[in-house]
Amino acid sequence: MRRLLVAANWKMNGDMSSNAALLAAFKAGFNGSADTAIFPPAVYIPQLADSLKGSAIAYGVQNIHFEEKGAFTGETNLAMAQDFGCQYILVGHSERRELFGETNAIVAKKVVAVLAAGLIPMLCIGETLEQREAGVTEQICKEQIDAVLTQVGIKAFEKVVIAYEPVWAIGTGKTASPEQAQDVHSFIRQLLAAEDAAVAAKTRILYGGSVKASSAQALFGQPDIDGGLVGGASLMAEEFVAICNAAQ
Ligand code: G3P
Repeated sequence: MRRLLVAANWKMNGDMSSNAALLAAFKAGFNGSADTAIFPPAVYIPQLADSLKGSAIAYGVQNIHFEEKGAFTGETNLAMAQDFGCQYILVGHSERRELFGETNAIVAKKVVAVLAAGLIPMLCIGETLEQREAGVTEQICKEQIDAVLTQVGIKAFEKVVIAYEPVWAIGTGKTASPEQAQDVHSFIRQLLAAEDAAVAAKTRILYGGSVKASSAQALFGQPDIDGGLVGGASLMAEEFVAICNAAQ
């Protein structure tokens, strides 16, 4: 079966001192029952590379440019992420899509580049509240998956982690119910299974959107939920330790 994975998306938060305290408390409390990955702001990757050296805790950047290098002011390329031992790359987070204009086509280009570099793309998908209320959740998720699938093919998904993050649950405190999340996770897995059942069975699909210690167990207990992508709660050591330790 799929080993659970719990990832932390620190977004644009942290400083050297609070990062050090958070990492020390996490390392001390985490029971190692699941895979973990931390996505700090890119400027703190060297601090995590140093702090997590020799541990099983992976880390990565929240965004990359798909070009190899060049005149892309403000961007980070994959070679830079690899220079510091990043294993995962967050791709297509709803905030990148909404605030920075990342289209399905751009997200697909980034996944292609991450796979070509031998790193693991964590592909974020999910619907807005309006889309859910309009009953097009599955259509939106299918469009987001298909945009990547048509570029990389189903076999590549063995190396892709999917994070389903309903936009209406991100940062709102409104967590999707385990049943709501499971319904969409099952749909996503069926999309992949239509192409290759073995790959679908292997692909880890995480849930993101106001995951808390109080909701983690019920979410992670769902058959098609393979862990979580945690925002706000990952900035609080005790809470994030409890979420990770719930992923048995
Ligand atoms: O990428 C994870 C993030 O979007 C979820 O944020 O604060 O709702 O856990 P939060």
